[in-house]
Amino acid sequence: MTAKNSPIRTIGLLTGGGDCPGLNALIRAVAMDALHRGIRVVGIEDGFLGLIEGRSRPLADADVRGIICDGGTILGSSNKANPVRFASGKDPAGQPVFADRSGDCFDNVRRLGLDALVLAGGDGTLMAAAPLIERGLNCIAVPKTIDNDIWGNDLSFGFLTAVQTATDAIDKVRTTAASHHRVMVVEVMGRNAGWLALHAGIASGAHAILIPEIPFDVAGLGAAIIERARVGRRFSIVCIAEGASPRGGHQVVARTDPTSPDPIRLGGVGRWLAEQLENATGLESRYVVLGHVQRGGPPCAADRVLATQLGHQAATLLASGARNRLVVYKEGRTQDIDIREPAGRQRLVPVDHPLIGAARSVGAVFGDVGPR
Ligand code: F6P
Repeated sequence: MTAKNSPIRTIGLLTGGGDCPGLNALIRAVAMDALHRGIRVVGIEDGFLGLIEGRSRPLADADVRGIICDGGTILGSSNKANPVRFASGKDPAGQPVFADRSGDCFDNVRRLGLDALVLAGGDGTLMAAAPLIERGLNCIAVPKTIDNDIWGNDLSFGFLTAVQTATDAIDKVRTTAASHHRVMVVEVMGRNAGWLALHAGIASGAHAILIPEIPFDVAGLGAAIIERARVGRRFSIVCIAEGASPRGGHQVVARTDPTSPDPIRLGGVGRWLAEQLENATGLESRYVVLGHVQRGGPPCAADRVLATQLGHQAATLLASGARNRLVVYKEGRTQDIDIREPAGRQRLVPVDHPLIGAARSVGAVFGDVGPR
């Protein structure tokens, strides 16, 4: 590991947490830029898991050429590997046993001669990196998530592709909803943030948009749907975020994984709501869970451009001797903040966000008030 101000000769590059479109564009940008500056680049496989287990490979220009348009990550990813709380097995009662494997990370950092680590990750990855940073590892991070929920960052690559994927899917759901005069509930990802549902809901002209930041009232929502039917609009599309919950109720948890830095997986609220709405309205209702399709496929042009900009910024920071920074896109340009700043914070949708007003102005309901 380099002392402060000593030049960076070799970097490790890893992608952690859930994948998203644009990761390969980022890998390409960081690697090409660093290589052009004479910095060696080592790709760490499967996020922190590869750093713990010592799995890596050198990245040359030829390894990253032509990948800008590919979904996923050529390095692989993992959202299970927290170096200081690594699930190393199970006790006789079947409960996970955790071990501190940060020593292995440092051994591999030394063995590979890494002067810094570039991390593409969400808050789970940043959290996992925190103890390594405290112990002297220089980390430059780039936010990636389809949820767009990283504190201090206006736009994450992957988000716009996921919005387009969800919008395309809802467009298709709309035609079958119209044919069958049904209520169709479409559940989208986003964890505790409603950005994906809000954007895809507006873009697809959904009639109701339900987000975690605005608890919904099933009776009010049902009344809005009945009113639509009364005036001849015989189908309704409800776009619901996986983290949305009814007023006074709870989020629906699909599974828990104590071995993950992000132990709760949300999901299932769409199914629950479709049943509730069928009972409340008497209208036939179905649900669709878009799931991981939202994370797959090639990145849209805007995500490729954003990932390239952020990758260039990360390489520039490294070359300038910066330590422990998070590259962000804010106020229309790349900036950087202290990597520790987003810890414990999420970027949620403010309830007075202009997009909520815009959605309401075109007739979408959020389940908090009655029909227009
Ligand atoms: O954070 C990205 C995300 O896709 C969330 O929207 C979703 O809740 C979660 O990851 C799903 O994670 P997994 O891939 O572990 O099922």
